Amino acid sequence: MIRMTGIRKAFGSTEVLKGVDLTVEEGQTVALIGASGSGKSTLLRCVNLLETPDEGTIQIGDFSFEAGNITRAVRLEARRKTAMVFQTFGLFENKTALENVTEALIVVQKKTKSEARRIGEEYLERVGLADRASHYPSGLSGGQKQRVAIARALALDPQIILFDEPTSALDPELVQEVLNVIREVSRSNVTMLIVTHEMDFARDVADKIAFMSEGQILECAEPEKLFLHPEKERTRQFLDYYLQKFTYSI
Ligand SMILES: Nc1ncnc2c1ncn2[C@@H]1O[C@H](COP(=O)(O)OP(=O)(O)OP(=O)(O)O)[C@@H](O)[C@H]1O
Ligand SMILES: [Mg+2]
Repeated sequence: MIRMTGIRKAFGSTEVLKGVDLTVEEGQTVALIGASGSGKSTLLRCVNLLETPDEGTIQIGDFSFEAGNITRAVRLEARRKTAMVFQTFGLFENKTALENVTEALIVVQKKTKSEARRIGEEYLERVGLADRASHYPSGLSGGQKQRVAIARALALDPQIILFDEPTSALDPELVQEVLNVIREVSRSNVTMLIVTHEMDFARDVADKIAFMSEGQILECAEPEKLFLHPEKERTRQFLDYYLQKFTYSI
């Protein structure tokens, strides 16, 4: 479970998060949508403290911390409970797919090499890449790289997975293979917060969709409610824009 309350964050004099409240219930998936620059990545990065919030409280399961009280121990614990999948994969280029998955298992979680290997192979299998274990990232497609990154995140057995536009760096024909893996993961017990511009995917996979605009969550509702009966005019405009873009592209 993730519960963010009253999150504020400024970069210099620019207020990027203006008191955000957002809850993702245990085992649920929330898609975070909104215009470029509205603060989606910043909010996501506050959960695992890649950004330090100025104000507010964040709860991850039974662990909670306040903006004013973020020690090194709090940072470590927030990282331990979460895993993040980035737009640009973030793989180690000098390590094979399997080594990318096992690295943190060995270094951070202190698993033996053989145990890490067993777990790594299991998760590569789960994302459909058992036969690519010994390939280096340079020998993988973008979709395969992102699936390795997802296997790496899952292998850590985190309470929460944060995805920041996991498909936006991919060629269009590779998007679905990654979305299918995420869809499969969403059926498990992991709690997920996903920033995405893939509206059909969000509608299909998310328990709730949160619409962010100018540093605030304007509304958060079940997909059908948000898409068919948005409460705010701003939400309607945003969704219309995406609907049009989709229509023009076919
Ligand atoms: N490290 C930083 N220093 C200064 N300004 C920043 C920093 N990170 C983000 N910002 C600013 O904060 C605002 C919100 O950025 P953020 O990346 O959270 O938006 P976003 O909703 O994820 O956008 P996109 O859809 O383009 O990824 C933007 O105006 C951005 O320029
Ligand atoms: Mg972003």
